[in-house]
Amino acid sequence: MKKILPLLLALAVPALAQKFEGLALTPPMGWNTWNTFASNISEDLVKQTAEAMIANGMRDAGYVYIVLDDTWSAKERDARGDLVPDPKKFPSGLKALGDYLHAKGFKFGIYNCAGARTCGGYPGGRGHEFQDALAYASWGVDYLKYDWCDHGTADARETYKIMRDAIHTAGRPVVFSLCEWGQNKPWEWAGEVGHLWRTTGDIYDSYDGRKGWAMGWKRILDLQYSLVEGSGPDGLGRYAGPGHWNDPDMLEVGKEGLSFAESRAHFSLWCIIAAPLMAGNDVRHMSPEIRDLLTNRDVIAIDQDPLGKQGFRALAEAGKNIEIWVKELSNGEWAVCALNTGPTAAELTVEWNHLWTIQGNFQVRDIYAKTAAGDTSKPYTARVDSHDVLLFRLTPVKK
Ligand code: GLA
Repeated sequence: MKKILPLLLALAVPALAQKFEGLALTPPMGWNTWNTFASNISEDLVKQTAEAMIANGMRDAGYVYIVLDDTWSAKERDARGDLVPDPKKFPSGLKALGDYLHAKGFKFGIYNCAGARTCGGYPGGRGHEFQDALAYASWGVDYLKYDWCDHGTADARETYKIMRDAIHTAGRPVVFSLCEWGQNKPWEWAGEVGHLWRTTGDIYDSYDGRKGWAMGWKRILDLQYSLVEGSGPDGLGRYAGPGHWNDPDMLEVGKEGLSFAESRAHFSLWCIIAAPLMAGNDVRHMSPEIRDLLTNRDVIAIDQDPLGKQGFRALAEAGKNIEIWVKELSNGEWAVCALNTGPTAAELTVEWNHLWTIQGNFQVRDIYAKTAAGDTSKPYTARVDSHDVLLFRLTPVKK
C-alpha cells in the first residue's frame, strides 16, 4: 500500500484539478490583436503596441494583458504534434515574446480553440490539451482565450474542463477565458472552470447594427438581460463576481464605426457591467480624446471596484430615449450611467429617487465633466448627444 499510495495520488490529480484561484479578482484588462488586426499580426506589432501602451499610460492604468488572438500559429502542428508559432510572424518565437512582455511589465495572453480547428482554420486544441498547456507554460503564458469553433458534438462543459485541468497540471497560473459565445449558458457552470466567459457572439464597431453573427455593442448589452430566463433586474449579473466574470466581448472603443459619443458610452457601460476591458483598437495611432477615455481612472475604477458587482439597467423609458444603469460599489457608493438612446441630442433628467435600489442621500460627482453635481435630493438635467452618456459617482452623505 505504501508503494501504491503515491501512484494512486498521482492518478487522482486530474480529478482534483481546478482553475487557479486568486486570479482575475477584478475584471481582466489588456489589449487583444483581433478587433483591428485579425490575421495581420507579428512580433513587431506586439512590441510597438506594448511600447505605445507604456507611453500613453494604458499599462499603468491597468491594461496589462497583451493577448495574441487567432492566427499566431503555423497552419499545422509539427511531427510531435506540438503547436508551432508562425515563423514569419514571430521569428524570435513566443518564449522570447513572453520574456519581452514580462520585462516591460505586461502579462502574456494567447488564443486557441477547443475544437479541432480554430475559427480562422489554424490547429485547434482538441486532443492536444495537456501538451499545449505545457507549451504555453514554457512560453510564459498568463492568459488563455479558448474558442468554440469546430467543436462537433462535444459537450461544452466537459470540453472546457479538460483544458482547465491541463492548465492546472502544467502548473503555471493562467487566467482562463472561455469563448463559447454563451451557447450552452456558461454563466451557469463556467465559474468553476474559468475566470471569464463570453456571453454572446462577436462584437463589431457599431452602436446597434448586425453583420452576420456580429453585433453592435448596444445589442450585446441588451442581451445581458434577455439571455437569462426568468431574468430578474440584474440579468446575467447574478453570475459574476471576483474571479468569475461575464464577458460581453472586447472593446471597440476608438474604432471608426463608432462616434466619439458611442465609444464613450460603450466604455462607460462596459465598466458598469464589470466587463473585462480588452482594448481592440490600434493604440499606436489613436486620438488624444480616445486615449484620455481609455485611461480615465475614475471610469476604470468603476469597472475595477473590488466589490465585483456587475451593474444593471435600473430604468428604461423608450418614450424619453433614456436608459439608466447602476452599479453598486464598495463603501456604500454607486455608479450611475444615463444613456441617450435617441437619434438626436436631448436633455436627460436623472430622477435619483426613481432609482429604487439606491436608498438615502448621496453627493453626486459628474465624472466626465469632472465637477460636483449637487446631491441626490434634486434631479439632475443635462444635454446629452445621441448615444452619449452621463456618468456619475455617488458617495453617501454622512449624517
Ligand atoms: C471567434 C471569437 C472572436 C475571435 C475569432 C478569431 O469568432 O469569438 O473573438 O477570437 O474567433 O478567429
